[in-house]
Amino acid sequence: MIRVLLVCLGNICRSPTAEVVFRSKVKEAGLDGCVEIVSCGTAGYHIGEPSDSRSQEAAKARGYDMSTLRGRQVQYGDFEHFDFILAMDESNLLELRQRCPKQYIEKLGLFLTYANNCQETEVPDPYYGGEKGFFHVLDLVEDASEGFVEVIKARV
Ligand code: 4NP
Repeated sequence: MIRVLLVCLGNICRSPTAEVVFRSKVKEAGLDGCVEIVSCGTAGYHIGEPSDSRSQEAAKARGYDMSTLRGRQVQYGDFEHFDFILAMDESNLLELRQRCPKQYIEKLGLFLTYANNCQETEVPDPYYGGEKGFFHVLDLVEDASEGFVEVIKARV
């Protein structure tokens, strides 16, 4: 089992989108059961809340269901439990680095490292913008999810 934690700030827009998209790509590749996928936020603003309705709508338009997800904040034990802890942007990564016990620091990285078709290294926060930003998040996390599935395939 490979354990993957996807991290943003609030866990209601980017990382839950990444969670459903990556889960779908893992399933398509026939690898469900081999990968545990969880998302969380560095902040605790939205613990227990459903994902942002704009994220849910955009995801639904591409066939992904986010309706069952609820906000979760990163926990100390996550650094030991997960094999890959992948942040949506540099600010999330910095937050994680500050909290991560030294022996697990190599688990941290940026999710878009695995994207093969875009120049961006960060998934921009869509929270304060318009609908387009939510579809841009989907474009980026679909790209990274496809690339990351190839890495997982090589490991299982
Ligand atoms: P996320 O977006 O980190 O992609 O979930 C945000 C959600 C909420 C807030 C900021 C970013 N907020 O400030 O409440």
